Amino acid sequence: MNPLIRFHDQYPPEAVGSLREELLAGLAATPKHTPPKFFYDRRGSELFDAICEQPEYYPTRTEEAILCSAAAEIAEVVGRDATLIELGSGASRKVRLLLEALHPACYLGVDISRDFLLASTRRLAEDYPWLEVHAACADFTRPMAWPEGLAGERPVAFFPGSSIGNFTPEEAEGFLEGLATLLPAGGGLLIGVDLIKDRAILDAAYNDAAGITAAFNLNLLERLRYEFEAQVEPQAFRHSAFYNEADSRIEMHLVSSRNQAIRVAGERIDFDEGESLHTENSYKYSVAGFRELAGRAGFEPRAHWIDRDSLFCIHYLECAA
Ligand code: AVJ
Repeated sequence: MNPLIRFHDQYPPEAVGSLREELLAGLAATPKHTPPKFFYDRRGSELFDAICEQPEYYPTRTEEAILCSAAAEIAEVVGRDATLIELGSGASRKVRLLLEALHPACYLGVDISRDFLLASTRRLAEDYPWLEVHAACADFTRPMAWPEGLAGERPVAFFPGSSIGNFTPEEAEGFLEGLATLLPAGGGLLIGVDLIKDRAILDAAYNDAAGITAAFNLNLLERLRYEFEAQVEPQAFRHSAFYNEADSRIEMHLVSSRNQAIRVAGERIDFDEGESLHTENSYKYSVAGFRELAGRAGFEPRAHWIDRDSLFCIHYLECAA
């Protein structure tokens, strides 16, 4: 028999109603925007995995290389028998690079994409029979609590992928503050943060030649069609992604190619030609800049690791007493 995972449902169907409200509020705002979590239906999660395979998209490959080469050092500062909690666990691929060295007391994957989460954590439990595996379907951008019954005394949050970059710096600080309240003094945060770099590298990473990032962006409109009764033609929008140097962030937009009205959940939304729906920010940080932000949220830096091309940084921080 396969080892079973323990599933915690913190995202019941009722929560989808508030998701709809969040969506409509963003579409009614000026400028129009949608929270990046709307990308991750099943197809969106698959497309994101495909993005990670693109030659231009360096973050995943680079972060994985750092995790591989620094696993022993990471294990030394983090320590064994932690309660390892991954936020936005997706395919639970990166954590595999740490498990042998880190030997946590248990692993909890937290993700909003339910089927994807279940499939990924089941595979993980099969491949690591010694590991106690939990899965929580939850929206970690909202206040949450750790589920009951996690083995281990010392929680360590694992937040790879530079997903922290999807928040504005103010939101990121608030998010880390919330996380700090869920962690005891001495609890840890192992977090991947994309570094500020040459804009040519950044622009290319979000405009891959195979068009996978464009498909990922446009899939949002497909999702609106089948999950939120939207009347919208995805071919009437185009993908746009560029580095906004002043704000140290990549912006992704869906730009309307004509004047048009779309309908979402019964509401009419008008677009002018060239008007955009802002679908994602992906902030980049220097090592010092991120440490300052985390420090304001109650975390103290313990160690960090960078690849030799200075593309990506993994920080380990601890909750101040
Ligand atoms: C890793 C989720 C933050 O900003 O790089 C990839 C998602 N968007 N290509 C990132 C993403 C477009 C991504 N996150």
